[in-house]
Amino acid sequence: MTYFILSMGCQMNTSDSERIATILENMGYTKSASENEADFIVLNTCSVRESAENRMYGKMRMYREFKKQNPHLKVLITGCIPGSQGEAFRKKVPDADFVVNIQNISKIPEIVGLAKSNTIATPLTLKEQNDEYFNVPPTYNSRFRAYVPISIGCNKFCTYCIVPKARGREKSRNSNNIIAECELLVQNGYKELTLLGQNVNSYGNDNNEELSFPELLERIADIPGEFWVRYTSSHPHDMSDALIELMGRHPKIPPYVHLPVQSGSDAVLKRMNRHYTIAHYLERMRKVRATISNAMISTDIVVGFCGETEADFQKTLDVCREVEYDMIYSGIYSPRKGTYAAEHYKDDVPHEEKKRRDRTLNELIGNISNQHNKKMIGKEVTVLPEKIHKGMLQGKTDTFKTMQIGGEGVSDNLIGSFVRARVTDADTWGMSGVLAV
Ligand code: SAM
Ligand code: SF4
Ligand code: F3S
Repeated sequence: MTYFILSMGCQMNTSDSERIATILENMGYTKSASENEADFIVLNTCSVRESAENRMYGKMRMYREFKKQNPHLKVLITGCIPGSQGEAFRKKVPDADFVVNIQNISKIPEIVGLAKSNTIATPLTLKEQNDEYFNVPPTYNSRFRAYVPISIGCNKFCTYCIVPKARGREKSRNSNNIIAECELLVQNGYKELTLLGQNVNSYGNDNNEELSFPELLERIADIPGEFWVRYTSSHPHDMSDALIELMGRHPKIPPYVHLPVQSGSDAVLKRMNRHYTIAHYLERMRKVRATISNAMISTDIVVGFCGETEADFQKTLDVCREVEYDMIYSGIYSPRKGTYAAEHYKDDVPHEEKKRRDRTLNELIGNISNQHNKKMIGKEVTVLPEKIHKGMLQGKTDTFKTMQIGGEGVSDNLIGSFVRARVTDADTWGMSGVLAV
């Protein structure tokens, strides 16, 4: 019997899938090379935008056809959609055999064992904050890069965002368990650990006895061995001096800061319930630039939020110019049922206008990134190669830039170990070069 897991969301979603894989393997399933050969399919869903949700319905239509060919096929839906929609969701996916809230995935063996096909509705409520699934050891997708979840849920309630509903209140994972997982990874030769949470830098706020995020990060970075420790995502409100200073001085924490701004307009930030002003955000960014040498900075932006005027949008462009982001994860605003904005604000920016603003924003960031990358020509960088692509080694630099390395000495033996490379060329998307001698 074989399984196939489709991760449809963010890094947290991918990390959850690594734990689901262990649960299925303990039930006797082995990994299937393709979804159309599997006997058990898990759809690990995302509800952040309507498009992500629609992809799930598209997959369910496809699996209905698969079930005609393979009557033994079972489909389980988990991830963020069940939590965000509750019991009502069960009726929308009659072809799913099981629907399980993400925080209850450790109960999959019981649910699958006990349920009669097509009868169970189990999007258990989020009332009990259950983080026990973190104790399931993951089946990591990579032998040298690993995601390590440190908290679940979110207390921020940005008005556009479904995540607090989908994942419940913020709960910090026990720091001893996190550190133990990281120590084991380093002992096993892992070179890049990424700490995950919706707001990693509010880690510990729910428990007075826990470490703060900078304390946790430092304890992990101090584990003996050669590795990088990254984190995502952080919130500007909780971006402390202690965190920025730690990043500036610890050699194992790469100089890459991802700090979502969402909008450059204070009026829009207020409607988004983001809890900071642009003046605060820019002050944090100046501290980052002054403390972390050669920092690469990226952000998330929601384009065309309710009531966003052209003047508001211009302020977002101004912030991008001032901070000089190298990368943005931008998306046009998508109303999500159950959020404050969907119920109280009018989605009044026309779709075409949202798309135009998104294009303008991405063109600006492309130009900034191109200039930054070109300045690296002639310099040496440290790279963690991930794969061979078109005959070249490809990986990320410490600053999370894509780097391709060609020429003498390049071989797939270097995948998963740090190399030094000299940059000989660059464009908007990254840099290329040769191994440094
Ligand atoms: N907690 C992180 C933060 O505060 O930035 C990110 C979590 S969210 C899963 C990732 C990104 O999705 C957000 O930063 C936001 O830019 C985007 N997003 C969330 N809800 C959205 C919506 N309704 N429409 C468009 N983009 C959205
Ligand atoms: Fe969503 Fe805001 Fe929480 Fe991020 S901080 S997950 S955008 S509610
Ligand atoms: Fe991630 Fe999507 Fe859930 S972005 S937290 S999988 S809604």
